[in-house]
Formats: sequence, C-alpha cells, structure tokens
Amino acid sequence: MKKGCRFGTHRVISPENALPQNAQKVDNSLPIYNNELLIDVDILNIDSASFRQMKDANNGNIDGVKNMILSIVAERGKQQNPVTGSGGMLLGTVKEIGPDYTNKRNLKVGDKIACLVSLSLTPLHIDEIIEIFPERDQVKIKGHAILFDTGILTKIPEDMPETLALAVLDVAGAPAQARNLVKPGMNVVIIGAGGKSGSICCAVAREILGNSGKLMAIQPSERGVKRIKSLGHCDEILQVNAQSPVDCYNAIKKSTDGEMADLVINCAPVADTEMSSIICCKDSGTVYFFTMATSFTKAALGAEGIGSDALLIIGNGYAPNHDQIALDVVRNHPKLRKLFEEQYV
Ligand SMILES: NC(=O)c1ccc[n+]([C@@H]2O[C@H](COP(=O)([O-])OP(=O)(O)OC[C@H]3O[C@@H](n4cnc5c(N)ncnc54)[C@H](OP(=O)(O)O)[C@@H]3O)[C@@H](O)[C@H]2O)c1
Repeated sequence: MKKGCRFGTHRVISPENALPQNAQKVDNSLPIYNNELLIDVDILNIDSASFRQMKDANNGNIDGVKNMILSIVAERGKQQNPVTGSGGMLLGTVKEIGPDYTNKRNLKVGDKIACLVSLSLTPLHIDEIIEIFPERDQVKIKGHAILFDTGILTKIPEDMPETLALAVLDVAGAPAQARNLVKPGMNVVIIGAGGKSGSICCAVAREILGNSGKLMAIQPSERGVKRIKSLGHCDEILQVNAQSPVDCYNAIKKSTDGEMADLVINCAPVADTEMSSIICCKDSGTVYFFTMATSFTKAALGAEGIGSDALLIIGNGYAPNHDQIALDVVRNHPKLRKLFEEQYV
C-alpha cells in the first residue's frame, strides 16, 4: 500500500505545491493510500452559495445543475464550484480504513458518517447522480470519496433523520462561532436570518442575550420573514436586501436609535453583501462573515473606504466540538427542529 501525506498532498495533480483545497485538480482514483479512509457516498450536501450559483447559471434547470456537477467532478476530481470556490459536505458509509489512518476513534467499516471537511478538498468520484433535491441543496449519488488523515468526520446521530443531520452539520461552524461571539446586552444583526445557518445563529444568540440587548434579522424575502417570525427569536425583522448597504444602514440605525450593531453575522449566500455587514457595525464591533460569497477584497477595501475599524472575521467552518454544538441547538429548540424537518427530511 502506498504511503500518503497526512495533508493529502499526494493526491494533488495540479498545480505543484498546492494543498488539496486550492488545487485545481486532485486524484480521486483507487486504491486508497495507507493513511486514508474510503467512503461509499450516499448524499452530497452542496454549499448554499454554490448550489444557488449553479441553479442561476442554468436558469433553474435541474438537469443543467446535474450536468454541471458531473463535469466539475470529472474535471477537478472534487466538487469545488469554480465560481464560488466552495464545496459542501457529504454523507456516506465507511468502506475501508487504511492501516495508518490515525483519526479512527471507534470507527469501523459500515459506519454511517458525515465528513466535516469541505467537498472542495475531498477527492470524489461520481458513478451516477440518482436524484437532486433542489429545495435542500442535496444530491443523492453513487460514488466514492477519500478522506485524508487530517480530515475530520462525525458519526450520524441516531436521534434524527440523516438528511436533517447532514443539513445541520453543513453549517456547524456558524452556531459554534456565534456562541463565542455573542455576549449579553449586545445589539446583534443576523443577515440571511431566515436560512439554515441564520436561523441556528438566531437561536444561539437568543439563548445568550435572554432579555438583554437586541436581536435583529435582515431578510429580504417574504418566505424567509415567515420562517423567522415562526421561530420567534428575533426582536425585529428588517425586510431589506443585504446587497443595498445604505438601506441596511438606515434600517439598523433606526432600529438601534443610532447605536448600530456590536456584532453582525452574515449568512447571506449571495455576492455583494460585505458592505451591509460592515456599515451596520459599530467601530468597536465585530463582523463574522460566515457566507462563502464573501470577497476578502471587497470587505477589506470597503471597510477602509468608509473608515470602519470593525473587527472582520473569516467564517472558519471548524471550531472544537462544532458538530455536537450544532446538533444540540437543533435538539434543544423544538420549533427550529420542526421547521428544519419540514425542509430537510
Ligand atoms: N463558513 C463555512 O464554513 C460555511 C459552511 C457552510 C455554508 N457556508 C455559507 O453560509 C451561507 C449560508 O448558508 P445556508 O446554508 O445557511 O444558506 P440558506 O439556507 O440558503 O440561507 C440563506 C439565507 O439568506 C437569505 N438571503 C438571500 N439573499 C439575500 C440578500 N440579498 N440579503 C439578505 N439575505 C439574503 C436567504 O433568503 P431566501 O432563501 O429567501 O433567498 C436565506 O434566508 C452560504 O454562503 C454558504 O455557502 C459557510
């Protein structure tokens, strides 16, 4: 059996010296190396920014999305959308464990698992796309994926349907980071609060704020507003498009009596929402860009352009124990769980 590098560099085809995430192309072939894990893939949970981009590029035609996924994976050896750069994650069954794979815990062949590293770096081969579920950004496939020694995973819990667990685990970084960032008394703004990560963050923020501070949602669509209202976590819902910074600024200024936000969490899966996040935030405040549609250039230069000293945080998808934190939020909030079950099961 060939020996692999723990970071997966042995799978990089091009460019030379890249790690798998920033590689243009990776090797998805079998057999596995000594320190890898082979997974029989069942479902891909495509990152929301990526799924929307593919849907838009095909004018909503799902066969077009299907062909796009097949051609991306055939070309790159991984599901990394070339426009958004993002991937998603997967659910599958452990098929083979390399003898030197060190991340074993109690893992055994046959276990149902979800990968907690991005599809944008995971070697993937698709034999067949069986079905696409556009309303939940999930794709049922037949194929295999390979996890490196540094790739983290989690077993699928037994107390919830696997497609629900997969959807929650996809955005597990958001509630874990929200828990670290929200403090009692803060003015908190959640952009895209009616979506998956947004509504989990709202639940976490409400728990921490209790009756203190103010929790505000920015959500343009009627559909999203309805979801936020039904959960009842937010003090105010501002039906504004986050691609219109001045409208967002005016809405938050009014809602906070000119104080503005201590913390803005951006979960909108569309481009050009950086400045709405920054402009709504106090100078002493923090913006957490969970969205994969964030442009570092737009955020950094835009903040400079309006003289904002806010702390800008990149939405790292990982935080210690983030999988259990995210699943627990859904377990502890029955209304949230019900809403998610309606959409993701
Ligand atoms: N950092 C990480 O590790 C990580 C991991 C996973 C996902 N992500 C990213 O996190 C983001 C959110 O993912 P998700 O799964 O929560 O997405 P989602 O379920 O699709 O939710 C997105 C929410 O944003 C709303 N929205 C759309 N356009 C908006 C706009 N112009 N202004 C304000 N809100 C808008 C959506 O409303 P409608 O539904 O009505 O359009 C929806 O409520 C995506 O960009 C995804 O790629 C990041």
